[in-house]
Formats: sequence, C-alpha cells, structure tokens
Amino acid sequence: MKNFSENIKYIGVDDRDLDLFEGQYVVPEGMAYNSYVIIDEKIAVTDTVDAHKVGEWLANLETALAGRKPDYLVIHHLEPDHAGGIADFVAKYPETTLVASAKAFALLPQFMALPEAVKKQTVKEGDTLALGKHALQFIGAPMVHWPEVLFSYEQSEKVLFAADAFGKFGVYDADPDDWACEARRYYFNIVGKYGNQVQAVLKKAAALDIKTICPLHGPVLTENLGYYIDKYNTWSSYAPEDKGVLVAFASIYGGTKKAAEKLAEKLIAAGVEKVVVSDLARSDMAEVIEDAFRYDRMVVAAPTYDAGLFPVMEDFLNHLKAKNYSNRKVGIVENGTWAPMAAKKMTEILATLKNVTLAETVVTVKSTLSAESEAAMDKLVQELV
Ligand code: FEO
Repeated sequence: MKNFSENIKYIGVDDRDLDLFEGQYVVPEGMAYNSYVIIDEKIAVTDTVDAHKVGEWLANLETALAGRKPDYLVIHHLEPDHAGGIADFVAKYPETTLVASAKAFALLPQFMALPEAVKKQTVKEGDTLALGKHALQFIGAPMVHWPEVLFSYEQSEKVLFAADAFGKFGVYDADPDDWACEARRYYFNIVGKYGNQVQAVLKKAAALDIKTICPLHGPVLTENLGYYIDKYNTWSSYAPEDKGVLVAFASIYGGTKKAAEKLAEKLIAAGVEKVVVSDLARSDMAEVIEDAFRYDRMVVAAPTYDAGLFPVMEDFLNHLKAKNYSNRKVGIVENGTWAPMAAKKMTEILATLKNVTLAETVVTVKSTLSAESEAAMDKLVQELV
C-alpha cells in the first residue's frame, strides 16, 4: 500500500545488503527506510534514509517532485538510519527549511556539518506546519526511541507519521501477512526499554482520528489499525501477549540441553498452551528476547561456569533487565558438576526485575539428569501450570 494517497508519496528504499541492523540485529528479510513527500502549495519531505541508500532515495524524491522543489524537510527522528541523507539533501536543495525539535537540532552537528546558511525551523508538541490543504500537527514522542523524536499528524488525510513506532524488520513488502513477528522482535529489542514513553504517546494518539499510520520502517498501515495499536498497547505495558512458557537454555556438553528438553516434554504433558525451547548459544538472541516478552512464563536453564554463570545466559538475563522485563513467572534450572552456582547467579539478576515471581522449586542437575533432579522438575512443572 505504498501509494495510499494522491498527494502523499512514498519515496523510501529497501536495503537488502545490510548484514546487521543497528550493528547487532540480523535482518534476513532486509530493512526498509521509509520517507514520504507531501505535495501541496508547499512541499514537505519527511525524513531521509540510511547513508548508503541516499542515491536511490534522492532519485525517488526527484521523481515524486516532478520538477518542483521541496520547501521543508521534516526530521522526525535523527538516528542515522533516517538522517543519513540530510547533508546530501541540503546540498541539492539548499533553499529548503529543515523542521525538527530543538533536541534534534542540538544533536545534529554531532552527526554532520551543514552550511551556516541552512534554514531551520524548530517545532514542538502542538505546533502546526501549514502546507496548503495539508497541515502537519506535531506530537512530542521523546524516547520513542531517542529523545529528539517527534510524531506528526497530517490533519486533512488523517495520517500519523509515527517515527520508529509500528516499524518492523524486513523490506517494505516482507511478510505482508505476518506483521507481528518481525514488528515484535523490532519493538522489544529496539524500543522495549521505553514502554512508559510509548504508553504516553499512544494516549496522545488516541485523541486523534487516524486513518493511516506511516512508520519509518515496514509497511504503511491503512486497515485494521486497532490491531496494531492493541499490540503496541500490550507490548508497551509489559503485559504478556500469549499464554505459554519459553524454556531458554545454554548447555556445554548436552546435560542442560537434555534437562531443558525433558522439562518442555513435561510442560506439554501438563497442558501448557505453548512451549518454546531455545538454545541461547545458537539462536538469534533478539528472537529469544522477543519470546521472553511474548509469553507469560519462562524457565532459564544454564550450567555453572568458572564458579559463576555460563556467559551466554548472563548476557541474555542482562538483556532482559535492560529492556525492563517484568510481570512474569520464572523458573530456574541449574547445572553444576561439583559446586553449582548458576541458580544463585541467575537469581541475583532476576530478583532485580519488577514483578517477576520466581518459582520456589529450583532444579539442580548434577552433570546429567537423575531421579532426584527429575522429581524436582516435576515440582517445578506443577508450579508453572
Ligand atoms: Fe529507525 Fe531509532 O531508528
């Protein structure tokens, strides 16, 4: 639905060459950097793209302009995946006025040097940029996902320009029937820490009559907007989305892996709605983090290592802590051959999380499963069902 409007044109680009988004996230289906042009008496371009796609973006822009010149470049978000084209844009269209928040203009020189003469217009929540029949009303969205972020609402066509919100991994047309899968992985890993700020901006958006959502990544959303807004409401409130148990494990020689698989069998046999087993050393960590937030329960299973916790599990739990993992029930399985320490170390991190209830039964596996450790596992399963 790129061309959803006669006067609001999509000029974004797909990036299939990227190895890691934001230097850490695998993007097997590529990435889209969205940008739009509003054509009216005045012309506003909204955002740019990542630096290595600027040539393609400028060509799209030129086609959309059909010989006219842009009056404004609206910068909703200054992160380089959207701001990589500002300097080239200013060089090509030096008469254009840059429109952004005060914070964006404060941060901008850290990324690029623009000519002294460049025109700037600072806007804030409640300000409006009149273009003719169209007008952009600005909405403050700090920390969704950087401090300078603005959303804007185009009043005549009822379009919300939502910056990173409602974005996803993947090129524009990736997985048209399964938006939530890569939108959820994107949300929890990139915006997840800022649930309160997302909640605040959703409340502001609820007061608007929105017909179309234009995010900076992923498809333009034109139908069933309630579905997407409901998902964002659930995710940003740290409420579980589905009933189920994620069993996240790490294993050195397979003893903990076997324990995790046995536990999963027992959970399924006990009637748990959905059980997902993930090997932290071999899975995409971002995907496991997504599942941790998706389900209402989790079991972490890891060996003791160097009198502490096996590193990939420590990394996983610290990721969850950074993203404000909360409101879940968690069980612990540890392994240790002579001096088990993993449960103590996992508990230390989990105990710092808000409203995370730890199961009373901690399963200790000594090298491999035994009748004793299986009996403890049965007790843990009873606590989790
Ligand atoms: Fe898509 Fe926060 O940048």
